[in-house]
Amino acid sequence: MNKEEYRSQLKEWLSTIQHVWQDDKIHRKVEHLRLKMEDDHSSEQEWYELAESIAEDMQPHEEVRDVAAGNHQLPPLPYRYDALEPYISKEIMYLHHQKHHQTYVDGLNQAELALKKARRTNDFTMIKHWERELAFHGAGHYLHCIFWFSMSPSGKRKPTGQMLRLIDQSFGSYEAFKSHFSAAAKQVEGVGWAILVWSPRSQRLDILQAERHQFLSQWDIIPLLALDVWEHAYYLQYRNEKAQYVDRWWNVVDWREPEARLKQAQQVKWTPF
Ligand SMILES: [Fe+2]
Repeated sequence: MNKEEYRSQLKEWLSTIQHVWQDDKIHRKVEHLRLKMEDDHSSEQEWYELAESIAEDMQPHEEVRDVAAGNHQLPPLPYRYDALEPYISKEIMYLHHQKHHQTYVDGLNQAELALKKARRTNDFTMIKHWERELAFHGAGHYLHCIFWFSMSPSGKRKPTGQMLRLIDQSFGSYEAFKSHFSAAAKQVEGVGWAILVWSPRSQRLDILQAERHQFLSQWDIIPLLALDVWEHAYYLQYRNEKAQYVDRWWNVVDWREPEARLKQAQQVKWTPF
């Protein structure tokens, strides 16, 4: 890539960052890099180092803001679109990020706003449609956020420390984990994901296939309150009156469990997008 191409790619990246990132420090660095790029004496290496420092500031940190309903944004990639070549082409990265991920962001925002309106007007006639949209686009958005930030042109290619210890403990060895994960990914039926997960209950790692991610909730989230509406949960007593079972269920709810789960779940803070 020549200097001009690099300049125009960086400019595109910077304008995305400026658009979605509400952080003065990052904005100042973006401006600084912009000025550098106008200066013909500055080198591409200097630009690269400044861009890298912006990308570092975009990594998760302690203070995390919340994302209001309808306010999700496409995260800027922490590297250039051609950075993962030859393994993943620039064209794929561009379309995947700019078009596909953006569609999930838009769809998630639309579903959240529609559900907000449904609550306000107490009109839930379209609940199935919007819940499906919420899961489909929410899973798409959240999983892509994990995906982009789990790759890098110059990243750490092997786990160490606690992660490696847990991989050894959970899968036997890193090689066994890799074979298991790759096989799961290759054999996902149709569309989907292979996902390494942490189970807070069994205190170990596992690998799941998410075929059609919308059938499996949003991932990235932590369940707090759950109501079983499988037939086995009510049929002997309520027969086909599922609605009555749901309405009466509120008489036996104990909020201590969801509250305790919430307290623990709030310890986990992902970077908001
Ligand atoms: Fe994707």
